[in-house]
Amino acid sequence: MGGAKHEGQLGSVYEAKSPEEIAALYDGWAGSYEAEMAQAGYRHPTICLALLARHLPKGAGPILDAGAGTGILGEWLAIAGYPEAEAIDLSEGMLAVAARKGVYRRLHRLALGQPLPFADGSFAGVVSAGVFTTGHVGSEGLDELVRICRPGGVIVLTVKTTLWTGGFADHVAGFAPTLSIAEQTEPYVSMPGEAATIPSLAVVLKKSA
Ligand SMILES: C[S@@+](CC[C@H](N)C(=O)[O-])C[C@H]1O[C@@H](n2cnc3c(N)ncnc32)[C@H](O)[C@@H]1O
Repeated sequence: MGGAKHEGQLGSVYEAKSPEEIAALYDGWAGSYEAEMAQAGYRHPTICLALLARHLPKGAGPILDAGAGTGILGEWLAIAGYPEAEAIDLSEGMLAVAARKGVYRRLHRLALGQPLPFADGSFAGVVSAGVFTTGHVGSEGLDELVRICRPGGVIVLTVKTTLWTGGFADHVAGFAPTLSIAEQTEPYVSMPGEAATIPSLAVVLKKSA
């Protein structure tokens, strides 16, 4: 069944031991990723878009989709009023699917957790759906996103609750007073169609002007 296959794919990614292994797993998953995530009722992009629209004025840009994957969120950014968007992701295969949609002005194969080749304050908004999660990117991935977010801009991201309570929230607090939590959701399950999954939450981080 599709559901079982989906759990297998995500399970393998959760257990990946290196960025190269994660990239290879997503490269192989790229062709069927969206169909399988839709079947599982995947919620992160919808929730991130709602929060972005509440905290960033229509027309603000550019937006960085960090860990954009196949561009599920990117497809909606222009419709929601943010036509200027760029994508970064570790997986060439995921980026290739995103590129075919023609919704990002630039796509970059880059790793969160490493230095990013963007000037300070390059982006009015940064959004990251489903990336700060088990076996993917930890709180160290936030530092460069804070640097490249414009003063007055926002960073919207989802985080597994285990990461959040296991150091991520403290890491965010360490950026004060440059960064503050503008909004935080209650924990929710990102894929209701998947059995036994650790809840996530979404946060809006505001960079002081
Ligand atoms: C669950 S998918 C989410 C993709 C997309 N944001 C979405 O909501 O559909 C996680 C994505 O994070 C990417 N990823 C994992 N580790 C990464 C890293 N260190 N830097 C950049 N992207 C990473 C994967 O390649 C994959 O595309």
